[in-house]
Amino acid sequence: MNLFGTNRKMTTVRPIKATHIGDILHLIETAWRIYLRLSPAELRTRLTDLRGFFAEDRVGMRGFMIIEPYQPNTALIVAAGLRDTWSVQPYLDVLLPEIERAAIEIQATAIMHVGSFSWLIEGLRQRGFETQDWIVIYERVGETPPPEPEQTPAHIRTAHTRDLEALTQLDNRTFDYIWHMSTRHLREALANAVSFAVAVVDNAIVGYAWSDMYNQHAHLTRLAVHPDFQGQGIGRQLVHRALVDALAAGANLMTLNTPEHNQRSQALYQRFGFVTTGERLPVLKKELT
Ligand SMILES: CC(C)(COP(=O)(O)OP(=O)(O)OC[C@H]1O[C@@H](n2cnc3c(N)ncnc32)[C@H](O)[C@@H]1OP(=O)(O)O)[C@@H](O)C(=O)NCCC(=O)NCCS
Repeated sequence: MNLFGTNRKMTTVRPIKATHIGDILHLIETAWRIYLRLSPAELRTRLTDLRGFFAEDRVGMRGFMIIEPYQPNTALIVAAGLRDTWSVQPYLDVLLPEIERAAIEIQATAIMHVGSFSWLIEGLRQRGFETQDWIVIYERVGETPPPEPEQTPAHIRTAHTRDLEALTQLDNRTFDYIWHMSTRHLREALANAVSFAVAVVDNAIVGYAWSDMYNQHAHLTRLAVHPDFQGQGIGRQLVHRALVDALAAGANLMTLNTPEHNQRSQALYQRFGFVTTGERLPVLKKELT
């Protein structure tokens, strides 16, 4: 436990345990500066596997930060947040050193963060995080039906719960670790998605696309085609299906995020009328010494 002096109003920092989940979820529901790469439900079930710290004062929890070990030597910030009445500078001053120590304890030589919020990005940059890559945002406005894709050997169908194991394997095979989804996360996605389609060749799942919907705004959260089946038009079939489903559900806007260096995915999205919004999210990394 660490105590910080009067200017920090006797803030105490402690490791997060399973019993703290109620206070964390309360903060998530009530504070505006919250960053989550996991859903609250997943956070609840996985809290004991993750490493995190929270700061508290006499009133209660002021803020928290949680990392996940990934790849042999890296930790990823998966959750962060602070009470509305606290400031980001002291929040990071008290929690980030603890997080860095915890990362070193799990043999990590670097910490990464996929930045979505300026309040966190700026503070991390001031504390040694550097941009490794950029994520660009695309959007497609309106209700124009997508162009028909050419037929391929793949059959596109709606995903089922029984596909989850195959989907997890495909996801791990297709994406770098930083973007991997757990079976649990995919299960939640399947339950909530406006569209979740798989591409099947010879009874094997070789691709999938899932989209979420917020009012009339659809977001293509995930698109993947197995490396052995790329370049055959299956990505086009999946994007077509995602758009058809979103339009049928009443969407008049579809967005998506993709790495700036991924020329292939961007060419595919542009073909379907997606254009860049000009926004970019940094992938931040800090080497730990
Ligand atoms: C991006 C991805 C989904 C595309 O799927 P795919 O089945 O290979 O795509 P398609 O065969 O339908 O081709 C779509 C476009 O990709 C590009 N492309 C396909 N194969 C390519 C290749 N071998 N080399 C370069 N570009 C290629 C082309 O621009 C093509 O557009 P076209 O219609 O002008 O030919 C797939 O490459 C993938 O899963 N990549 C890894 C995960 C990923 O990047 N996901 C999306 C980012 S979030």
